[in-house]
Amino acid sequence: MAEELTLDPTADKAAQYRALLPQIEALVGGEEDLTANLANIAAALKYGMGFFWVGFYLVKGDTLVLGPFQGPIACTRILKGKGVCGTVWENGTPLVVPNVDEFPGHIACSSASKSEIVLPAFQDGAVKLILDVDSDSLSAFDSIDEQYLGQLMKLIEGLL
Ligand code: SME
Repeated sequence: MAEELTLDPTADKAAQYRALLPQIEALVGGEEDLTANLANIAAALKYGMGFFWVGFYLVKGDTLVLGPFQGPIACTRILKGKGVCGTVWENGTPLVVPNVDEFPGHIACSSASKSEIVLPAFQDGAVKLILDVDSDSLSAFDSIDEQYLGQLMKLIEGLL
């Protein structure tokens, strides 16, 4: 496994994702522990894409519980249907939120967070965990993030 990611911050976003995803695949390929893999994926996304906050919430009973993440400290528990993360868990579909202040029930873990994208990963037809990526800029996420992070969620489903 490479010790460092090969990154090109001057490339456009799609090119950055296309370069990063195979490196993430290689990174997790030799490890079977889910916590270790989610931790490295969070770090690879944070430093590979320059995101403000990247992390996972894992389904535990009727609650999402904070898992591996990179960035400022965050809320530890989110109920089903609550906030962006709880809504994605309930509906099982990704959400792009251009302005978190306009999302009813948004849970503000950090006042610096302005926009976010949240995607689910499934096991046996049920949401098992969600990926939450936050930006300190408005409208930071679009269909390019949804496309490539969607590919990443398929990769993560293969690790579950
Ligand atoms: N904003 C999220 C909560 C998680 S934090 O942003 C890390 C939400 O509304 O679900």
